[in-house]
Amino acid sequence: MPRYVALIPAAGSGSRMKTETPKQYSMLAGKPLLQHAVHTLCRHRLIEQVFIVLSPGDQRYGECDWRDCAGKLVALYCGGETRAASVFNGLLAINNAVGAADWVLVHDAERPCLRAADIDRLIAEVGDNESGGLLAVPVADTLKRGNAAGEVLQTEAREHLWRAQTPQMFRYRLLIEALRRADVATVTDEAGAVEQAGVRPKLVTGSVTNFKVTWPEDLALAELILKDFAT
Ligand code: C5P
Repeated sequence: MPRYVALIPAAGSGSRMKTETPKQYSMLAGKPLLQHAVHTLCRHRLIEQVFIVLSPGDQRYGECDWRDCAGKLVALYCGGETRAASVFNGLLAINNAVGAADWVLVHDAERPCLRAADIDRLIAEVGDNESGGLLAVPVADTLKRGNAAGEVLQTEAREHLWRAQTPQMFRYRLLIEALRRADVATVTDEAGAVEQAGVRPKLVTGSVTNFKVTWPEDLALAELILKDFAT
């Protein structure tokens, strides 16, 4: 039977947060931001192992309390220049620990409001679809294309447009081969690399609450969502 493992790229510098602390270590609801998603993935019954990709010089990971994840969480100090490079390096590093047909769920460290129900839906809807799949939400807002001066050039059709989230799940071999060949400078998610290989991953409707903490004000929003989940 194929197994499920998670891989969390957490080697970004988080420059948009405008803080000294890398975004993944900002405090959120009493613990470092990255611990929220890591705990959710470690607690999931189908996920056997969770690998976290850190930058080689990361000194904060070891200062966090990981006792809740003992036995399931493995840190890999092999982050690269881009998110795609970090994921690729992580996949290379776990080569001996996973099989070619095992499923890898790649999840952004900075999506702390991931829920077990989202993971369940992703795994159930992708099933044994060899093209893999990802959580995503249909675009609800009207989309405007602007110019460099901040003026509207035109309104874009939003039909069939989705906002890609994570986790994104693919069989190990498909994902590592797609990333090996992908243009890592332009690929911003795993599905993008797999699409470049001519594959059509499945879109699985996710939750708007599973958003990526990017700007300083996002921390307050994430805190409200986590409080709501806890009640
Ligand atoms: O910067 P961005 O929002 O695209 O980051 C998405 C995820 O990829 C984050 O979890 C971030 O820590 C990770 N990342 C990484 N290595 C990089 C850049 C980003 O692991 N060089």
